Amino acid sequence: MENKVKQTGTSTISIDGAEPVEFPVLSGSMGQPAIDVRALSKHTGHFTFDPGYTSTCSTESQITFIDGAKGQLLYRGYPIEQLAEKSTFLEVAYLLINGELPNKTEYKSFSDTITNHTMLHDQIESFFHGFRRDSHPMAMLTGTVGALSGFYHDDQHTTEDEARNLAIHRIIAKIPTLAARCYKYRIGQPHVYPQNDLSYAGNFLRMCFAVPAEPYEVNPVIEKAMDKIFILHADHEQNASTSTVRLAGSSGANPYACIAAGTACLWGPSHGGANEAALNMLGEIGTVDRIPEFIARAKDKSDPFRLMGFGHRVYKSMDPRATVMRKTTHEVLGELGITNPVLEVAMELEKIATNEDYFVKRGLYPNVDFYSGIVLSALGFPTDMFTVLFALARTTGWISQWNEMLEDPSQRIGRPRQLYTGAPERDYVSIGER
Ligand code: ACO
Repeated sequence: MENKVKQTGTSTISIDGAEPVEFPVLSGSMGQPAIDVRALSKHTGHFTFDPGYTSTCSTESQITFIDGAKGQLLYRGYPIEQLAEKSTFLEVAYLLINGELPNKTEYKSFSDTITNHTMLHDQIESFFHGFRRDSHPMAMLTGTVGALSGFYHDDQHTTEDEARNLAIHRIIAKIPTLAARCYKYRIGQPHVYPQNDLSYAGNFLRMCFAVPAEPYEVNPVIEKAMDKIFILHADHEQNASTSTVRLAGSSGANPYACIAAGTACLWGPSHGGANEAALNMLGEIGTVDRIPEFIARAKDKSDPFRLMGFGHRVYKSMDPRATVMRKTTHEVLGELGITNPVLEVAMELEKIATNEDYFVKRGLYPNVDFYSGIVLSALGFPTDMFTVLFALARTTGWISQWNEMLEDPSQRIGRPRQLYTGAPERDYVSIGER
């Protein structure tokens, strides 16, 4: 990766009346400015304090762009709406990794490579048998993705293109097989091996829903919806799990161990676990007439309740993925002939909340997770698999970001500082005298 940030000006900072110090003002390709404070502590002895990183760019990146005010999401410059409508997940994966959409030959070669790596080493099976049968599938996924590092440890510490590409292809190919295995283990059904003449999404659906005793045919509408869901979740710039992958990878850690770290971070309800929480909340609301009660609770500062699937650290208008997801939800429910009262509650909740002062003032709109739970449960997935599906799709983004970081000449080990507020230095007092 070639560094492309440009200096567009300078900013002068004077602290407590000291001699002013100049810092470069940088700009990215979409014009967003940032003050380069890398030399701040050297020149002034001060650090910046930014818990939650609301004002901090941790890296330069050329993969994904978000304009939270406009509700815009671009992968390598392409709007998410166009990619979700017109491309396939593997095309998007190629784009995220390589920076350009593939031509026909490149696409065939990439799909063939991914297809050739879909099987798991047979010994991975022993890891699954170490889990209790009711283990959360995210626990199994985190553990077994990390376990891949034991099988492919040679990829560690490499900067060689070929070895890095192998790690990228392996993880994208194997993650659906692992995710489906987590599901099958949880429900006590035999592992279904990958079938390589199917699409990425079709193969995953078959590994989840086929059983050896019955024929299984992939429904093309469901297959397209699954593929779209994967595209929508493929990358989202420096979110918590991606930053975790980058931070883990910045020390030169094994790529599969880095993806396991990202998977663990994604599990939380403020991140990837939100669609499970959103669907549970919609179910708890149950009927449209109970919406005002829940809106009142969300606004009440003494109540910890939040509208799950609402709000986003970056989007302060509608999450563009939520718009695509709402449409997909209607398509899937229509195809399957399902009338789900939860969808009615969701649409009414969206209508009421997006017109309420409390939500408008704070820029709180539905995020991608608001509708994804409804569509995923219509596809037949239990709620505890939702984050697994998210992790499956995001693995492509994680590994693209990991790769970009290792190619970045300005990359250094990530090492934030802190503002210490603990006890000042004091002398040890022996236990009998305390
Ligand atoms: N319901 C009610 N109030 C909310 C909500 C919500 N869902 N989200 C934020 N707020 C309020 C906060 O109480 C706060 O109000 P205040 O200024 O009066 O104190 C204000 O909006 C800002 O909220 P923060 O928590 O500071 O915003 P932050 O950027 O840190 O949080 C987050 C973003 C975590 C997504 C938050 O909106 C939330 O908890 N949403 C519900 C969970 C969710 O849907 N997560 C999915 C995120 S998307 C993803 O990971 C794919």
